[in-house]
Amino acid sequence: PSDSVPVGIHDLTFRTTSLQLTHAELAGHTGVPLAKYHRGIGQKAMSIPAPDEDVVTMAADAAAAVVGRHGADRIRTLVFATETSIDQAKAGGLYVHSLLGLPPHIRVVELKQACYGATAALQFATALVHRDPDQQVLVLASDIARYDLDSPGEPTQGAAAAAFLVTARPALLEIDTPSGVFTREVMDFWRPNYRTTALVDGRASIDAYLHALTGAFGDYRRRGGATLRDIHTICYHQPFTRMAHKAHHHLLQQAGLPAGPQDIAAALAPTTTYNELLGNSYTASLYVALAALLDSGTPLDGETVGLFSYGSGSVAEFLTATVRPGYRDHLRTEAHHAAVTDRRPVGYAAYRDLHGSGLPTDGSRYATAASTPGPYRLAGIRDHRRLYETNG
Ligand code: HMG
Repeated sequence: PSDSVPVGIHDLTFRTTSLQLTHAELAGHTGVPLAKYHRGIGQKAMSIPAPDEDVVTMAADAAAAVVGRHGADRIRTLVFATETSIDQAKAGGLYVHSLLGLPPHIRVVELKQACYGATAALQFATALVHRDPDQQVLVLASDIARYDLDSPGEPTQGAAAAAFLVTARPALLEIDTPSGVFTREVMDFWRPNYRTTALVDGRASIDAYLHALTGAFGDYRRRGGATLRDIHTICYHQPFTRMAHKAHHHLLQQAGLPAGPQDIAAALAPTTTYNELLGNSYTASLYVALAALLDSGTPLDGETVGLFSYGSGSVAEFLTATVRPGYRDHLRTEAHHAAVTDRRPVGYAAYRDLHGSGLPTDGSRYATAASTPGPYRLAGIRDHRRLYETNG
């Protein structure tokens, strides 16, 4: 009987770091025309973590808002999706569990498959809630995108954490069936355990993303999914926001539909407003795009929205969700604008210093500089243990 209960996203929010580097500042030092950043890749700024911020502090900040509104009594599972893992064994979500003082009767796990991890978490969460509609699942998607300085990937760095609560009879979106999946092993983007920055074959990664989009959407359609005409807006994973334009163009062209650049820009504009200022946030990116669409003021009650998730390596999924009438009463638009606009700009030299710094890799005692104004901070490391604390 639980199969008939609608299941989906009841609450959705995101947080980011307290610092940002604008692409105007970057262009002023790299000599790259600003138009390449603004128009060519569609990015205006990127979030930069302060020394005492990381994937845990961002995720705890986002999760606290969700738990603050709904309580934690019915949460039975917390899934932490990340590719910026801080430990090979222990789930980052355990630190969030502790910082938020969550009850002990919650299973906490970490999930990884590049940027796709949060969508896997959404599907696993949906299945758990179908099995027992009384329980809720908290999904946290938190990442910091770091590429080498002076590499082509550098202007596509960024950071954010999304938090969403998966429940029966959700207030925001019901997750539809079917979904389409596409998996293919490919070396387009990866980060070996010994590296703090990702390796990427930029052009190959764009081709792999588009190939996976064709594969996932094809699988979705073969399983009885909606036609493109029946989908109001598609939120794409946005490693840089122009990638969403390329993706939409690709899908429209394959379906024999008109695909003019102006129409595509207009159709996707409501989904890119946050990510063009945050940069790539890997697992969180798609859910930040979804938050932007919901916050955009476009009336979506009862509409079908598409979600395309791509994780390099690669696994992709295309799914749709039906927006619940009255969803606007449950949004967090103000907090999202604040998260984006409250960030302090850093200069180029300070950004490069931050890029090169980090916790000692031998586990030796280290205290981070007090910097973040956020509610949680990474205080340092002692005896190979990361020390988190509530700020102030
Ligand atoms: P690049 O070599 O710096 O840039 O790399 P480019 O020369 O290809 O130029 C980029 C665009 O700017 C081009 O537009 C140029 O024409 C345009 P396009 O031809 O593509 O439409 N351009 C200009 N526009 C206006 N005025 C100008 C100007 N000059 C040039 N003056 C690249 C770009 C994205 C490859 C690089 O930034 C990179 O390697 N990024 C990282 C990889 C990435 O984001 N890949 C995306 C797909 S893979 C993915 O999404 C997964 C991922 O999120 C990881 C995960 O799953 O975990 C990355």
